[in-house]
Amino acid sequence: MDENLVSYAAIFLVIYLITKKVFDKFQKLPPTPFPTLPILGHLYLLRNPGQIHRCLAKVADRYGPVVQLWLGSRRTLLVSSASAAEDCLQHNDIIFANRPRLLGGKIIAYDNTTILWASYGPLWRNHRRIAATEILSVQRLHLLADEVRSLVKRINDESASSQSPTGGNDGVEIKPALVELTYNVMMRMIAGKKMESEEGKRFKMILKELLAIGGAFSAGDFFPFFKYLGLNKRFETRCKAVFLKLDKFFQDLVDEQRGKLVDDGNMKRNNAKKKNLIQVLLGLQETDPAYATDDIIKGLAQILLLTGTETSSSTMEWATTLLLINPDIHDKARKEIDEKVGHDRLIEEQDLQHLPYLHCIINETLRMFPVAPILPPHESSEDCVVGGYNIPKGTMLFLNLWAIHNDPKVWDEPNKFKPERFENVKGDRVGYKFMPFGSGRRACPGENMATRVVGLALGTLIQCFDWESAEEEIDLKETAAVSMWKANPLRAKFKPRKQMIDIISQI
Ligand code: HEM
Repeated sequence: MDENLVSYAAIFLVIYLITKKVFDKFQKLPPTPFPTLPILGHLYLLRNPGQIHRCLAKVADRYGPVVQLWLGSRRTLLVSSASAAEDCLQHNDIIFANRPRLLGGKIIAYDNTTILWASYGPLWRNHRRIAATEILSVQRLHLLADEVRSLVKRINDESASSQSPTGGNDGVEIKPALVELTYNVMMRMIAGKKMESEEGKRFKMILKELLAIGGAFSAGDFFPFFKYLGLNKRFETRCKAVFLKLDKFFQDLVDEQRGKLVDDGNMKRNNAKKKNLIQVLLGLQETDPAYATDDIIKGLAQILLLTGTETSSSTMEWATTLLLINPDIHDKARKEIDEKVGHDRLIEEQDLQHLPYLHCIINETLRMFPVAPILPPHESSEDCVVGGYNIPKGTMLFLNLWAIHNDPKVWDEPNKFKPERFENVKGDRVGYKFMPFGSGRRACPGENMATRVVGLALGTLIQCFDWESAEEEIDLKETAAVSMWKANPLRAKFKPRKQMIDIISQI
């Protein structure tokens, strides 16, 4: 009897698999890895959380650049080639301009109403317009130079104190100084002030708790029945606790700016150039109260602060690491800076356009270590075609940017740091084979700002200091959740260059 049961089950399984394969082929659906486990689907493929981009690149090596996955009950499209990416982000740009509604986004991102998580539509368009005109515009960037000077001073002071009287030198962990730079740039734009120490500490603690929750997904996103069985409670409780702290942090900022506007009176309200983002949005609250609610203001400030700090600071840490490993490239960049800027002043923003090699270094860093190795998930709002396959409405898109940027079929020796490959490339894109800021309607609105921040800070560090690694061997291990950062923080020794000592001492 038992043997019969096993045989029936085996026959049923074979018939099911064959029928499914024929059916999928008939429907022209993309290939699906074997096996698709009951209930779990292909979740077993994501077993290495910090390295999901690498796990998924292996799936693409085996099944091709367009693959259909089942993550629990979610139909997911995995895209890993430039031409399939073009299908998604150009030919089907509007169709894929939605984001899936995830549980974390519901709790932390004000019911998915923030610029990052809102679906394609009027609310999201309004956010993008405001972000473009009010925060990421060039006129707001004048404070960048000021913050880069503070960075130089901090690195100089910390390097001096890391030097022991016996001649030893542990070097400086560079990431905290870079994070402070990007925090301050963003906070000055958002709320017109620097991260005062207590406030800064408070935000960093909240950020730590947020990162500890893990990536953007929870099990409940893949198994809707978890909700009804109460199995997602732990995740929801943690998210809610972090959300309450984040919300209070931004509500305090909003209330403070509201108070300032009242104190300063209407005269200042009309002076658009002097207003920070929160003040602009509070002004809008009077003319368009249905849009500019306190939650919308807090959500916009939250996402811009979160997306604007970790991304640029991680890119600078990777670039510094790669330059320490490749001193010839560092020296070539310094030669360019010495020739074009000299030693009598610090690099200014206008100089960046005359420093093409520095720009190549930034591009090559973003190619090897894209901040978002897998783009934040998109979702299709209609049926469409990708790579010749039919993709049903409601499919979640995982676009593996890391796999495209590191594909040996597209890039010669992709593991090698070769900024020269970007010489003669105009702009920050090479078709769809290099697009660190994404592409199409959902592309990063902070691209312009990020390239300036990274260019000016990195260029100034190259101009001002001699660098040396404080470690015997520098590793390039990465870890990724929503973004990708260096697993082991870099420590380096910075010594002011003789030619720049006077300038540095005047800061
Ligand atoms: C090196 C720095 C940065 C990199 C590599 C980067 C990259 C990206 C990428 C790949 C996306 C997703 C695109 C997609 O979903 O298709 C994105 C989205 C976004 N980025 Fe950036 N980013 C950087 C810096 C910044 C900065 C400085 C800001 C703001 C000040 C910012 C704000 C945003 C926002 C708000 C979104 C969501 C856009 C939307 O969903 O409509 N990013 N970024």
